[in-house]
Amino acid sequence: MHTLEDVNKDRLPQHVAIIMDGNGRWAKQRGKLRVFGHENGVESVRQTVESCAKLQIPFLTLYAFSTENWNRPKVEVDTLMRLLVTALKKELKTLHKNNIRLKAIGKMDTLPEKVRKELEEVISKTSKNTGMTVTLALSYGSREEIKTAVQQIATKVKNNIISPENIDEAVINTHLYAHFLPDVDLLIRTSGECRISNFLLWQIAYAELYFIDVFWPDFREHHLVEAILSYQNRERRFGKTSEQLN
Ligand code: FPP
Repeated sequence: MHTLEDVNKDRLPQHVAIIMDGNGRWAKQRGKLRVFGHENGVESVRQTVESCAKLQIPFLTLYAFSTENWNRPKVEVDTLMRLLVTALKKELKTLHKNNIRLKAIGKMDTLPEKVRKELEEVISKTSKNTGMTVTLALSYGSREEIKTAVQQIATKVKNNIISPENIDEAVINTHLYAHFLPDVDLLIRTSGECRISNFLLWQIAYAELYFIDVFWPDFREHHLVEAILSYQNRERRFGKTSEQLN
């Protein structure tokens, strides 16, 4: 089993994004309700944040709740929201201790008041931290993010604030929820599903994808290390040839 020491610190992914999947199936395997899986998933979040902090990965983004997740049974949605509030309250101290800045992306106005308030408080209290940025994707959908950006840009065009010729990738990027994040270098999805599920579509253009057949509540540091080692063994060509890179 590999450990953090095996990771090449000179070739770290700057931005790791994770689709935390498989909580429900993990619980079902144990004859428990789906919410039991989410409860245990919180510990994987805690440990993963800690491992990324130890490695000094600058950006970690976690897909915690998608726009589509609102369609789940009310009891499950309520539990996820409650878990979020509890985790935020509980982890504020640890975030500070590790110099971590918390951020969020998504349609914040659709979150329950209690979650929004707690989130705003932790975001504001950690805003001056200079270490890793942990971003929670909450009520997030990438198509919705892009649609909102297009609407904002179209309004600026209509009001002569910007001209169509000047719309480039940088302009589009500044209108996205995730405007403060660099492109994703490594995208991990747990549970064996090989899908992107409407996550950071713009930002993963050149990301290395890593799918692992482990349910999220079982995801531990050595799994993260394997993902990073796999990333470090890949040649990222960004459209160029191998010879050009060398
Ligand atoms: C996917 O598993 C997981 C989620 C939709 C929620 C992830 C949330 C947590 C890990 C807990 C709270 C998060 C934080 C940041 C404290 P699934 O329910 O889709 O599992 P399944 O595919 O097996 O049904």
